[in-house]
Parts: sequence; structure tokens; C-alpha cells
Amino acid sequence: MGVNVAIVGATGLVGRTFIKVLEERNFPIDKLYLFASKRSAGQKLLFKENEYTVEELTENSFDRDIKIALFSAGATVSKKYAPIAAEKGVTVIDNSSAWRMDDNVPLVVPEVNPQDIKWNKGIIANPNCSTIQMVVPLKPLHDRYKIKRIVVSTYQAVSGAGKKGVDDLERTLNGEKNQCFPYPIANNCIPHIDVFLPDGYTKEELKMINETKKIMGDNSIKVSPTTVRVPVKNSHSESVNIEFEKPYQMEDLKEVLRNAPGVVLMDDPENNIYPVATIATGHDEVFVGRIRRDETVYSGLNIWIVADNIRKGAASNAVQIAELLIK
Ligand code: A2P
Repeated sequence: MGVNVAIVGATGLVGRTFIKVLEERNFPIDKLYLFASKRSAGQKLLFKENEYTVEELTENSFDRDIKIALFSAGATVSKKYAPIAAEKGVTVIDNSSAWRMDDNVPLVVPEVNPQDIKWNKGIIANPNCSTIQMVVPLKPLHDRYKIKRIVVSTYQAVSGAGKKGVDDLERTLNGEKNQCFPYPIANNCIPHIDVFLPDGYTKEELKMINETKKIMGDNSIKVSPTTVRVPVKNSHSESVNIEFEKPYQMEDLKEVLRNAPGVVLMDDPENNIYPVATIATGHDEVFVGRIRRDETVYSGLNIWIVADNIRKGAASNAVQIAELLIK
């Protein structure tokens, strides 16, 4: 026996990946409902070789026996429709930023804080993509050595901005004018993701600061981020510098990472083994390499973290949450 599942934003990059990941992981689905904007109503999408018709999302969309709804249609849609769905008994797993910092909404990465799912009141938030891939390998290190401070620089793929981001890379590579990013993303690294805040940080950077603390359940962790859009189609990379409270032995630390759930260690620099975006794309794991001691502080570490932002950073993380829900 399966459950009835709805996908909101089914025609988008993440929405289509929800469908793919549900199929790959053989999620037990009874009925599947696909929703998007009016523009896409009537469009047909395939799930397990059967055609499903996309419906326009309305306030009545959840007047059926839907158990789980995976949302990825932006914060405005989530703000309005997630409470409507939850009110009707649906458990919403929301990929937008709308509910992440709400005290009544758990923010969950299954490898890190699965226990938080239990206190949901109808909405569970999926964290920001850059934060998800950072906390997966950092949580077991925090448990062992206690993280004091993180300095992170991201190298984020254009797919993180949805289809319009991918189109802008294509367009500007062809010498046409940019329409999505503030500068042509071809041949540029743009240190600007989401909007600027009065203190000069971007909202994307603020998400990394706040969400890391909430997911790890530790407000004392300091995070100093710079988030950058790069001309890569898919998968985010991150250079992460960590300062621990306790000392570590390098071999022990690598062993912790080797055994960490959801982590793949790729660290053999002599043989050019380290993760890159094209290796991570298509996978649900978080890839880690370039592991070096930072000798400038008492107990410091530098690592390079790469993951598929559409899969582990969005769709796969949400489906993993759904799997825990039905367990
Ligand atoms: P549509 O394709 O009909 O515009 P992406 O992040 O790849 O751009 O995808 C965004 C997803 O959110 C798409 O499926 C898009 O549907 C959907 N969406 C955008 N606005 C709305 C809306 N007002 N109601 C429902 N779905 C929406």
C-alpha cells in the first residue's frame, strides 16, 4: 500500500527531479498529483512510464486524500498554499525559504537531525542547498570536535536559480544579453545570490548562518559566508574553513568522514582525486576532499565540499524526509 503524493511546482527543475527521485527510490505512491501554474495546466509528465496531467494549483487542490505534498514553486506560493494544505491534513515538505526559520517548523536534513521531523505541525522545511551540503559532513565532526567557527565561500551552479538560471548561462555563452543574473554569468563569478541586506551580506549568506545553527541545534556555531554564482550548470562547490574547540588527529578525522552517512570521501590529491561538480551531478551523496590542517589556528581544517544542488540540495533531501515520514 502506498500513499497519495502531490508535487507543487512539478514542471520546474526541482519539481521534475522530485518525480525522478521518487521513481528511482521506489517511493510507495498510490496516487500522484502534479500541480504548477495556470501556464502549465494540461501538460503531461511521465512517472514510472505513465502519463500524469499537470493541474493548475488552486485553493481546492488539496481537497483530496493527499498525505504528503512536496513543494518547490517559490516562497510566495509556499507562504500561501502550505498552510492551506496543512490545514487539510497534508504534510508539506517545502523547498522554499518561506518557513525555514519559523519556530513552529522543523528544518531537516535526514543525516543530521531526523528527530526534528517528529514535532512538525503539518509543514517541514527543506534547507537551502548550500547549507544542506555543508552540514552533512560537518555534523559528525561537530559531534566529535565541536565547531567554533566556519568560514565558507561557495561556488554555486546556475541551476540553483531554476530554469531561468540555466537559460541565462546558455544565453550569455552565446554572447546574448543576461536576463536572470545581474551580470553575464558566462566568464564571470558573481558574488551576489538573492538580495542584499542593509549590512552588506546577501540573503543567501544569511540563510547559511541561521540555517546551520537551527539544523545542528547549536546557536554557538559562528558562520562567516560569501556566496558566489559561477558559470557551472549544476552542482555547488564550497571551500570550508573550520575551527574546532578540541584537537584532532587527521587520520581519525578522515575516518569520521569516511563513516559519515551520506558522505563520500574523495581525497587522494597525488592522483588528482578530489570532488568536482561533474562528478557530483546525478548523485544524492555529498562529496568531500582537499582535506588539510589549517595551521594558522589551534585546531583548524580546510575542506572542499561538492554536491548536486538539485538532488541532495533540494529534491533528494525532501524525498528522504518523506521516506522518514512514512516509516
Ligand atoms: P510553471 O512551469 O507553470 O511556471 P523553476 O524553479 O525551475 O523555475 O520552477 C518553478 C516551478 O514553480 C514551476 O513548476 C512553476 O510552474 C511553478 N510555479 C511558479 N509560480 C507558480 C504559481 N503561482 N502557482 C503554482 N506553481 C507555480
